[in-house]
Parts: sequence; C-alpha cells; structure tokens
Amino acid sequence: MTTDTTGTAARDGHPRPGGPADSPFIRACRRRPGPHTPVWFMRQAGRSLPEYREIRASVPMLESCRRPELVTEITLQPVRRHGVDAAILFSDIVVPVAAAGIDLDIVPGTGPVVAEPIRAAADVERIRLIGRDDVSYVDEAVRQLVVELGDTPLIGFAGAPFTLASYLVEGGPSRTHAKTKALMYGDPELWHALCGRLAEVTLAFLRVQIEAGVSAVQLFDSWAGALSEADYRRYVLPHSTSVLSGLADAGVPRIHFGVGTAELLGAMGEAGADVVGVDWRTPLDVATHRIGPDRAVQGNLDPTVLLAPWPVVEAEVRRILAQGQAAPGHVFNLGHGVLPETDPDVLTRVVALVHEVSSRRADQG
Ligand code: CP3
Repeated sequence: MTTDTTGTAARDGHPRPGGPADSPFIRACRRRPGPHTPVWFMRQAGRSLPEYREIRASVPMLESCRRPELVTEITLQPVRRHGVDAAILFSDIVVPVAAAGIDLDIVPGTGPVVAEPIRAAADVERIRLIGRDDVSYVDEAVRQLVVELGDTPLIGFAGAPFTLASYLVEGGPSRTHAKTKALMYGDPELWHALCGRLAEVTLAFLRVQIEAGVSAVQLFDSWAGALSEADYRRYVLPHSTSVLSGLADAGVPRIHFGVGTAELLGAMGEAGADVVGVDWRTPLDVATHRIGPDRAVQGNLDPTVLLAPWPVVEAEVRRILAQGQAAPGHVFNLGHGVLPETDPDVLTRVVALVHEVSSRRADQG
C-alpha cells in the first residue's frame, strides 16, 4: 500500500489502486462499475450518535466546527461505527458565512440565527471574501482527516447561494421563505448581488477544502425546492452554476443536493454536477429519466423509514437499490439528513445490507 492518502492522485487523472480515487464511492460518482453500491448518510456525524453527544455536551456547535481535533474525531465516528463508504467533513453551511464576517449562531433545536439579517445593498458589502487563512481550522482538519481516513474518501461541502441567502435574509430558519422570495421578486438586482457574493464565498471555501485533500464535494441547496423551475432557472441556477462549474477543473466529483426538488432535478444537474442528490419523493428510475445519462444519482431512503421495524427498512433499501440500477451510477444515501432519534444500529445494518445486496449483484456480473 502507498502512503499517499491525499487523494491528489485523482487530480492528475491517474487513480492510485486502493486510494480514495479508486474507492467504490468515487467510482459510482464517476459512473464507473465497482465492487458494491457505496453508501453514506447525510448528517451521519451528529446527534444520532451517543459518542457525538458526549463531545458536544460541553462545546457549542460553531466552536466544535472551529477546533480541528474535534472536527477530525466527530467526522471519523460514523466511519468507525457504521463502515460507511465515505466520510463527510463535520462542519455547517453557515461556517464560511461566519468567517466572511456575518454575526450568527447555531441555536440548538432551531438552527442558524443571524443577528442582523440582510435587507439592503450595504448589507451585502458586509459579506467579505474569504481565503484559506479565514478558515485555517477547516484546512487543518481536512489535512488530518485524509491521513486518518486512508482509502476512505472525505466529502467536503458548502451551502448553495439560495439556501445561504434564505438564512441571511430571514434571519433564521423559515417554512415559507417569504422574506427571501419577496427580496428575490421585488429587488432582483440586490438579489443577484447577494447571491453573486455568496457564490464567491462558497467557491473559495470549497477550493480550500479541495486543496487540503477532500475527494468530492457536495453543494447543499436544501431549500431550493421552494421555487418553481422557471424561478429556479432565473434566480438561482446562474449562481449555483458559478460554484459548480467553477470547480470543473478541480478534478473531484461534485454532488448537488436539495429537498423537494422533483421539478428541478434536470436543472440541478445542468448547474455542473456529476451526481444529483434526490429526496425520497422521486423514485430513482424516474429521477434518472429527468437527469439524463450523463450524471449519477444519490439517495433516497426516507429518513423516517429508519424509525420503522427492520422488515420495513429492509424492503425499502432493496426497492431503492433496484430502482438505482436504472442510473448510470448510484450512491446510496437518505433523501435528507439522519434524524436525531434514529437508532445508530439501524444505520449500521443498512450499510451491511446495501453492501451485501449490491455485491452479490456485482458477482453475478
Ligand atoms: O452530514 C454530516 O454529518 C456533516 C455535518 C453537517 C452539519 N450541518 C452538522 C450539524 C452538515 C452537512 C450540515 C449542513 C447543513 N446545515 C444544512 C444542509 C443540509 C440539510 O440538512 O439540509 C443546513 C440547512 C444546515 C443548517 C443547520 N445547522 C440546521 C437546519 C441545523 C439543525 C438545527 C437543530 O438543532 O435542529 C444545524 C445545526 C447542525 N449542523 C447540527 C449538526 C450536527 C446539530 C447541532 C447540534 O448537535 O446541536
């Protein structure tokens, strides 16, 4: 085995046998066959794990994201416990925005809360551009993690401009995104200035993670499903495209995910994604038809199914694996994040089942 664990081999186009670039996860993202269907879970690092709750009992959320030794430990916890095919960096979508100068906090049970929401052009100027020095704790954590993870790929991530804008304009989580949409429809110039700035911050933040060695990136546009396709294309797609297409030369697969995006799947692929994340509402064969043959899919077990008896979970996992075969590449995941009340042992069983069912299929060739 080689000691190069940085994943850089992937970027010069020569995947190293056994390294992250040759892992089942990266192979599926690249629509190449592999030994089994890879699986990881959005929010796998978090409150479903007692070992996570123990660490977080005495450390506030944002502080835990800024301490490389804690980021490393929390990121590794689900890999050790479940044997997932990829780690996702422990962080939050508001971390780069805070680094860019916006005063905010992550309130337990609520989510991100912004002290002074964005309402005018002068507010956009408060969002500074960031570089590596502004997020040196992320750079350091990623470098530590790629060494610790060896052949297991590390996924970096960021929030997409629309979802970030929603938190910044609303001041906190919102069900209707009413203030965000009022600004978008009422002052398109300000809207585009805001999303343009957020796209720059996001692109810089993802580049820091890629330079430090992540093997893939995911852009979370969790709330994009609040928009019609026409409005998505007009107000959001150009900005998400500048992030994803801006990474076209970076040599790592790009995953683009949102919730309630059945009508947006084609457009989200067009933004420059190698993999499109699908929530539980759209079967993967239908999703593949909408996305086309040039991109892999990721998903899409309803996270609440994990709260049901095992036979129900098993039937759903098997259905999703079967429907995922219609796609040119399939990364098994949930349709959204792990719920805190999920029994972690069920997650471990799902990983084993996905591997068992899909490797038997691979054997039969
Ligand atoms: O997936 C992972 O395991 C990596 C960690 C991760 C977190 N947030 C940690 C976190 C990731 C990928 C995110 C992204 C994120 N953050 C998104 C996009 C994904 C999604 O779920 O749609 C969004 C919208 C946020 C904003 C945010 N941060 C919310 C809505 C919350 C939950 C608030 C709550 O307490 O219910 C957070 C806090 C947060 N981010 C937690 C974790 C583990 C919980 C904080 C805690 O442990 O108290």
